[in-house]
Amino acid sequence: MADFTTRDPRHPDFWDERFNRNFTPWDKGAVPHDLQRFVEAAARPLACLIPGCGNGYEAAYLAQAGWPVVAIDFSPAAVQSAKAAIGEWGKYVLEADFFTYQPGQMLDLIYERAFFCALPPEIRPAIVMRWAALLPAGATLAGYFFFDDTDGASKKGPPFTIHSAEFAKLMFPFFELLEEHAVSDSLPVFAGKEYWQVWQRKAV
Ligand SMILES: C[S@@+](CC[C@H](N)C(=O)[O-])C[C@H]1O[C@@H](n2cnc3c(N)ncnc32)[C@H](O)[C@@H]1O
Repeated sequence: MADFTTRDPRHPDFWDERFNRNFTPWDKGAVPHDLQRFVEAAARPLACLIPGCGNGYEAAYLAQAGWPVVAIDFSPAAVQSAKAAIGEWGKYVLEADFFTYQPGQMLDLIYERAFFCALPPEIRPAIVMRWAALLPAGATLAGYFFFDDTDGASKKGPPFTIHSAEFAKLMFPFFELLEEHAVSDSLPVFAGKEYWQVWQRKAV
């Protein structure tokens, strides 16, 4: 890690450098179980946005399941890597910044994995506000969150942990928690601290 030249994960060059050097310890190389379970249980296909998609395996999975999906990443190297990783489904991956991207359709779902925890604590309120702005009342935010309820929020990362109560405090003005459980198929970097959660956008 020491010889990377970029240090600020708020900038695309940080992620470009890591994708270009094939340093991607967060990359599962597969679709995580809880997302599969969520999709299999859904009553209908949901229009989904995947912010900070990295290699975008989930975009390929959702598109194959017939779900309308757009996956975005602001790192050109990540987008290039995704297009190589998921082949024909790469057409659903766009280079775009989560904070300015405007979806072309009404969203039913935002899928989260290793995006929130990739960015430093001072960005968290802005991420939650953007999730809230992108989702209409009743829509869903579902995915994976990286909690540490012993030490609380880590100042060092990525990945940055957050205390689950602090995360809930950020979320409660906009979202209601519908489901939560510990994750059984975590990668080593997230093991023991990864939780699946499903949140519903409140009508506020
Ligand atoms: C730790 S990686 C996770 C990638 C993927 N979600 C996964 O689970 O493998 C974080 C990703 O978020 C992307 N990212 C960070 N800030 C972003 C932003 N403002 N807009 C879009 N993508 C962003 C990075 O380029 C990087 O690919």
